[in-house]
Amino acid sequence: MTEPIRWGIAATGNIAHSFAEGLAQLPDAEIAAVGSRSAERAAAFAAEVGAPRSYGSLDGLAADDGVDVVYVASPHSGHAADTLLFLEAGRHVLCEKPMALNRLEVERMVAAARSRGLFLMEAMWSRFLPAWKLAHEVVTGGRIGEPLVVEADLGFRRPVDPGHRLFDRALGGGAALDLGVYPVSFASFLLGAPDAVVAQGHVGETGVDEQFAAVLHHPGGQLGVVAGAIRAWLGSTARVTGTDGWLRLPALLHQPEHVDIGDEAGGRERVETPIEGQGLRFQAAEVHRCLRAGLTESPVMPLDETCSVAGTLDAIRAAVGVTYPGE
Ligand SMILES: NC(=O)c1ccc[n+]([C@@H]2O[C@H](COP(=O)([O-])OP(=O)(O)OC[C@H]3O[C@@H](n4cnc5c(N)ncnc54)[C@H](OP(=O)(O)O)[C@@H]3O)[C@@H](O)[C@H]2O)c1
Repeated sequence: MTEPIRWGIAATGNIAHSFAEGLAQLPDAEIAAVGSRSAERAAAFAAEVGAPRSYGSLDGLAADDGVDVVYVASPHSGHAADTLLFLEAGRHVLCEKPMALNRLEVERMVAAARSRGLFLMEAMWSRFLPAWKLAHEVVTGGRIGEPLVVEADLGFRRPVDPGHRLFDRALGGGAALDLGVYPVSFASFLLGAPDAVVAQGHVGETGVDEQFAAVLHHPGGQLGVVAGAIRAWLGSTARVTGTDGWLRLPALLHQPEHVDIGDEAGGRERVETPIEGQGLRFQAAEVHRCLRAGLTESPVMPLDETCSVAGTLDAIRAAVGVTYPGE
């Protein structure tokens, strides 16, 4: 029988709960331990997910030799420090999106993983869903010719709440990092790294970007046209236009369940891409695959690309005028 991969989960918030549900759907995953800033929350979460050990500090979790890989599920502002803590303790890490507040932090995390020969991946879960995988295959396989333009956006209207991480500068709030990372990562998945970025946005009363739009120019002339919002419902779809055809993803961009493909001759095809089970389990399965194959990064979400995506988000924030404490 295959040995299970032993997970640690760092933090006890919304996404940590969803991820634990996803792990429960993988036959070879075990939640070995959880960590929190609070011993009570850690114990309650461990009881809920059936983890045998819980820690009231992340240091405790880091020191647990019965953990192979840690899932970092703190707010964006905690990703770099938490990931470095676990890497320094010899654990592999899957870190929530966006990988960190800025490119500099991401580069430090990547260097730490590489120097120790440990696995590290940004939890850009959508790349492992059937729709994004198919979009990538269609475009890289040449079915719509050369891709020329990728348009993608994701935006919800949330009430302004200075106490919520989305509106809190200290926690890395704002549209670009939380939701903009999806259209930026989608454009990067299909077009690679841009060589120029222009952006506009609006900074709200709590000091974070509530909406932005950006144009990403690529060395071959391809364009990414991306937007994100936390105070506006956007279409939250994607369109890819190539020399010989096109492709569309329906809302919601980060979890679409079909792909429409068309060509210049009027051909149309809809491919259903249902997400079976908890959507976060697909990225966890990729972590398992990589660890079992001895890979220290995923070819689907490579670390150099995570650095480049962080650089694009930096350029968008610089244009919009948002900085985080300590930057
Ligand atoms: N992939 C996705 O679909 C998806 C969806 C939502 C969020 N996310 C990502 O996951 C991360 C967490 O988001 P979330 O929605 O789960 O947030 P959340 O509900 O606020 O949970 C964050 C958790 O982080 C811990 N934490 C550590 N330092 C904290 C601090 N200074 N303030 C508040 N909490 C702190 C807390 O757990 P303890 O108190 O136990 O330490 C808290 O419960 C974000 O980076 C976000 O981008 C991804």
